[in-house]
Amino acid sequence: MRAPSFFLSGALATLAAAATVEYDWDITWVTAAPDGFSRPVIGVNNQWPCPQIRATKGDTIRVKMTNSLGNQTTSLHFHGINQVSTNFMDGPSLVTQCPVAPGDTFVYEFLADEAGTYWWHSHNMGQYPDGLRGPMIIDDPEDPYKDEYDEEYILTISDWYHEQSLFLGQNLLNPNNTIGAPPAPNSVLINDGQNLDYPLEVGKNYRFRIINMGASVSAMIHFDSHDMNVIMNDAAYLEKEIAYQLRVTPAQRYDVIIKGIERDNRNFGVLVSLDRNRDYSTAANPVWPQNATAWLVMDPEGERRPDVVDVWRPFDDSHFKPLDGKNILPPPDKTLVFNFQPCRDKYGINRQCVNGSPYVNPKVPTLYTAATTGNFNSNETVYGAVHPFIVEYGDIVDIVVNNHDGGIHPFHLHGHHFQVLARHATGRGDWPGETDSYNPVPPQRDTVSVHPRSYAVFRFQAHNPGVYLFHCHVEWHVEMGLTATIIEAPDMLRDLKIPKDHIKACKKAGIPTKGNAGGNYKNPLDTSNIDYEPPAEYTGAQWTPTHPTCKRRSRVMRSL
Ligand SMILES: *[C@@H]1O[C@H](CO)[C@@H](O)[C@H](O)[C@H]1NC(C)=O
Ligand SMILES: *[C@@H]1O[C@H](CO)[C@@H](O)[C@H](O)[C@H]1NC(C)=O
Ligand SMILES: *[C@@H]1O[C@H](CO)[C@@H](O)[C@H](O)[C@H]1NC(C)=O
Ligand SMILES: *[C@@H]1O[C@H](CO)[C@@H](O)[C@H](O)[C@H]1NC(C)=O
Repeated sequence: MRAPSFFLSGALATLAAAATVEYDWDITWVTAAPDGFSRPVIGVNNQWPCPQIRATKGDTIRVKMTNSLGNQTTSLHFHGINQVSTNFMDGPSLVTQCPVAPGDTFVYEFLADEAGTYWWHSHNMGQYPDGLRGPMIIDDPEDPYKDEYDEEYILTISDWYHEQSLFLGQNLLNPNNTIGAPPAPNSVLINDGQNLDYPLEVGKNYRFRIINMGASVSAMIHFDSHDMNVIMNDAAYLEKEIAYQLRVTPAQRYDVIIKGIERDNRNFGVLVSLDRNRDYSTAANPVWPQNATAWLVMDPEGERRPDVVDVWRPFDDSHFKPLDGKNILPPPDKTLVFNFQPCRDKYGINRQCVNGSPYVNPKVPTLYTAATTGNFNSNETVYGAVHPFIVEYGDIVDIVVNNHDGGIHPFHLHGHHFQVLARHATGRGDWPGETDSYNPVPPQRDTVSVHPRSYAVFRFQAHNPGVYLFHCHVEWHVEMGLTATIIEAPDMLRDLKIPKDHIKACKKAGIPTKGNAGGNYKNPLDTSNIDYEPPAEYTGAQWTPTHPTCKRRSRVMRSL
């Protein structure tokens, strides 16, 4: 990618003492029972929970991934990493790469350019709720808070399902699911297990890295008798702020310092309670298990009394202050207005519509369309039904989300930490236009919840040429179409060089790598081959060979 040279010089400067951190991962089915119920899950090297990725700021991270699932495709996304000048390493299937077929190997390599708490997960056809996800930590040798804690812990939260994602997706995208209800989880996990102990010593301070790796449900968190000193949100440092309760949406991260109180020698509950917002709490939905508890343990033999919270009043996370004190960016050159609500397709299947239609997978990964359609790549037509939004290099971009639904939804942008200019309470209505007043020193992050029948406004500068999804991080809503695509600096993406193993993965999966969203290379403005409507049958990540040689072989077999 022809990235501006200041990115490279910045990277090289930090590379002086940097290492390459390498992982060799076989993606495999494993049997696990994190809540006592045994089921097949997707793990790494025959292990589950999956390993964490850990590096130091300035390192290069290299993950060699082999798909040994046999019956599903896969891909990996490194959530919160902006992939500056390595957009083709971002991971979403049919966006920056092809789904990786069983038996194939694919290498991800990128710079750990910013410190913080991240996570990695499959970004392939609703697959990660089957367990293919894990923490990713980038340590900061110059951590501004390093003198304020002695040790650190990871605390992941997840809703958990006893059925596999493919089955759940098929029931979700089914005409008999008349209210479009997402699947109800069967349990709540902490660190992919339950009843976890965190040893706590009097007088010591602990940094907890809280990550919601769940598929769908946000969680409230509260530490018995201990305040959370919040120092980071989504890998962006904050001015330290005390919170008694936080609401953590899927994909959000909070780093908090817990100061072990000196009052008594006992154990303290850490309560994680799934939030039943309107989307999930109608009478027609089954009631699901709600709480999980971990323990701050000072007395291993002592009693473990559950933490009880009378009222949930989580800290308003749109009011955190960024530690760098960076002011609001100048007014926008472009504004993407993203109106969304549930809708129904011609088969009677419930979808999520963005400005009137659901996102539909293209036949060619969107980045490859941008790289192979020459000057046509600045015409939205070539991208089909991915809700393309074209911005030029250096543009200040606003994303306005008008939530016309009765549920709260967490939105995530790839490739950028955006500023949260405004985010209002339930029922505020649509964005009033440019007259709106914004937070002058807004927090910066990559995932934010947007309240029911209300709106939020995010701002970023387009300094990272590439193709970036903006989507709801309820994985079931992604499968229903709640996604748009930012095409950033298309003129800089023409003739982009894609790594050879990435192109090979497409051949193996039988997916074209050139032309518009319908695979038309000769005439990119010819839309006749583009799918504008989602398919009637949901196949998720299921491996269905479409490669020409496979087809030929099966035809021969039939004729025998
Ligand atoms: C809806 O259809 C799915 C898939 O055919 C089936 O598994 C499920 O049981 C059906 N649900 C109801 C309520 O009929
Ligand atoms: C979960 O915890 C909350 C807060 O303490 C409590 O109100 C609720 O009753 C608990 N739910 C269950 C099912 O125990
Ligand atoms: C994009 O292509 C369409 C279809 O050919 C055409 O109508 C439209 O004018 C083009 N837009 C631009 C900005 O060139
Ligand atoms: C794939 O294999 C796993 C592990 O054997 C099995 O549990 C699962 O049902 C299979 N899925 C599909 C889509 O065939």
